[in-house]
Formats: sequence, C-alpha cells, structure tokens
Amino acid sequence: METKVLKINSAQIDKDLIQEAAEVIKKGGLVAFPTETVYGLGADAFNPDAVSKIFAAKERPFNDPLIVHVGDKQDLLKLSVEVYKITLDLVDAFWPGPLTLVLRKSAIVSSIVTSGLESIAVRMPDNPIALSLIKAAMTPIAAPSANLFGRPSPVTAEHVLEDLEGKINLILDGGKTQVGVESTILDLTQTPFRILRPGGVNLESLRTIITDIEPYQGDKILSPGMFKRHYSPKARVILVEENGKAQIDRVNAIASEFSRQGYGVGIMVKEENKDKYNGDFNIKILGQAKNLSGCAANLFTALRSFDKDGTQVIVAEGVKEEGLGAAIMDRLRKAAARDN
Ligand code: TXA
Ligand code: MG
Repeated sequence: METKVLKINSAQIDKDLIQEAAEVIKKGGLVAFPTETVYGLGADAFNPDAVSKIFAAKERPFNDPLIVHVGDKQDLLKLSVEVYKITLDLVDAFWPGPLTLVLRKSAIVSSIVTSGLESIAVRMPDNPIALSLIKAAMTPIAAPSANLFGRPSPVTAEHVLEDLEGKINLILDGGKTQVGVESTILDLTQTPFRILRPGGVNLESLRTIITDIEPYQGDKILSPGMFKRHYSPKARVILVEENGKAQIDRVNAIASEFSRQGYGVGIMVKEENKDKYNGDFNIKILGQAKNLSGCAANLFTALRSFDKDGTQVIVAEGVKEEGLGAAIMDRLRKAAARDN
C-alpha cells in the first residue's frame, strides 16, 4: 500500500484535505494525525475490522487497549454508561487536552478496542486538525500512538513514516506536536482514582479538581498494555538518575567505559551540562533543566535521532520528577528497561 502524506496547516485548515482523510476513516482505513501530545494512528472506533488493522500495522498485541478520541464532550455519554459529576468536572477542566479518562464502557463499544475489558479509555485531543478529522468522519476515532509497538512515540509525520510507511493509508502532516509526551491516563473505575500513566496533565493540576487521587506507581503493572519496556530506540538506553555533580560523573564513567569497549556512545544531557563532558560522545540536548515542557517536547525526537546516527548506547541524564518531569522520567525508565 502506498502511504499518502497530506501537509496541512493547523492555523488555517483546508477542509478538502480533512474530507479526504475522513473518507479514508469512513471506508475502514487508517489515518495518522497530529494531536497535541503525539501523532495517533486512527480508525473508526465503531468498525472492528478497521480497528484490527491498527494492531496489524503497529505489530501491537491485542491485549493492549486503545484510547478512543472524541470531538465533542457529549460523545462520552455514548461510550460510557457511568458518567458521574466528577467525570464531567474533569472534562470541563481539562478537555480538550492531554487527559485520558478510563470509565465503564457501554455495550456499543467493541471488545477489540478495549482488549476485552469492561472499561474504555477516552479523551478529547486539543488539536484543531484532530478535532476537524473526528467531526468530519462523524465517528469517534480509536487511536494509539502512531509508532511500531515498543518504539518511541512519533511527534512528526517523518517519525510516523519511519515506522509505518507502506502500512497505513494516509498521514495528515500538521508539523511537530506541542507536548511531546502522551496523555495522562486516569482510571475513574475504582476509588481512590488512580493515575495509570503520567503524561501531559500533571498530578498537581488534577488535584485542583479532585484531591483523592492515587499517584502513579511506576513499578506496578496495573493495566494491560503497561509494559515495563517501551518507548525504546534501537540503541541501548542507560538512565542516570542522580543529580548535580554525581550525575555528571556517573554519565562520564559509563559513557567512557562503553566507548573504551568500542561502542558508538551518545549522551542525552540538559542544556546547562553540555560542556561538562569530555570524550568522543554524540551529545544531544534534551532542554534546560528548569524547562520541563521543552524537555518533554524534545524527548522522542532526541531518542529517534540517536538511532539515525547509528549510536549504539545512549547514556541519558534524568530530570527532576515534578510536573511534566514525572512523564519524562517514566518514558526514560521504560526506554531503559531491558525486559518486558
Ligand atoms: O496522548 C495519547 O494518549 C496518545 C495520542 C495519540 O492520543 N495515545 C496513546 O495511545 O498514547 P497508546 O495506545 O500508545 O497508549 C494507550 C494506553 C494503553 O497502552 C493502555 O495502557 C491504556 O492506554 N489503556 C487503554 N484503554 C485502557 C483501559 N480500558 N483501561 C486501562 N488502560 C487503558
Ligand atoms: Mg503508545
């Protein structure tokens, strides 16, 4: 199959291009599109055959459920049988935006979308291209991140092509996504409510709406699809979590040792540390330590670009685990995990 790429300007949306993409969705095809977090690989959420093509294209196991994207808050009422006031408060505060809510599903939702679970994950993306596509397709769109299973998520159309060229019908190329890490997933089917994945909306912000939320527990696999190893480039990733001088010393020691053994070594560093490394390393800057949203926006591009350079081992500096830092550190720990 030939993968068509349509360039589209999010500030001035060309309706004909959206219509062309919407026709692909209506006919049961696959369209990759930008959201505010990462690119999604979309299919008609109410067409099980179309949804099954997502799993095939991504080589994703069927026990990893999908997020359903809606273009209108009201659509929540079709997809879930239990929408309480607290759900609506969260929707009003954070939608459209990078918050995915896990709710009891309604009977019309096919089990292929939810991997047989009685719950469904839903979000309304904050991106005009995504919202126009969902509205023009006249159906909610099931969409995981548009990468091959296990790889870093795509934040540009080029990243989507790298992984899925020839396997999907169309890519709407709306440029680089803003947030750079995926949505926060909040499970509302049990109390206390629980964060299943840290992401674009941080715990501190969620707690302004509901105080009783259990924070993310990275070492526990609480839902299907939460694998220990994920977001991984081809290169081996070693994460150094210390701070300050101890971190720089350890990154230097590990990088030097791999280099001595003959590996092509890259290091991913905070801006302020870039001149603190000696040796023959491929240095990439994640961003300034205090600008965690900048770091999040660069994260997956940096990981993918090491692969392009042929780097074999990436030694990565960790960042502060506050705000978006929680999502960044989760992705880095998973990228560095050596088994599932
Ligand atoms: O920002 C995002 O969320 C992006 C964009 C495209 O919207 N999407 C995304 O989808 O990251 P994906 O498939 O890469 O991650 C979805 C994860 C699954 O791996 C699973 O862990 C969780 O959402 N999930 C989906 N349905 C669930 C459910 N019913 N219960 C618990 N977790 C669920
Ligand atoms: Mg994903």
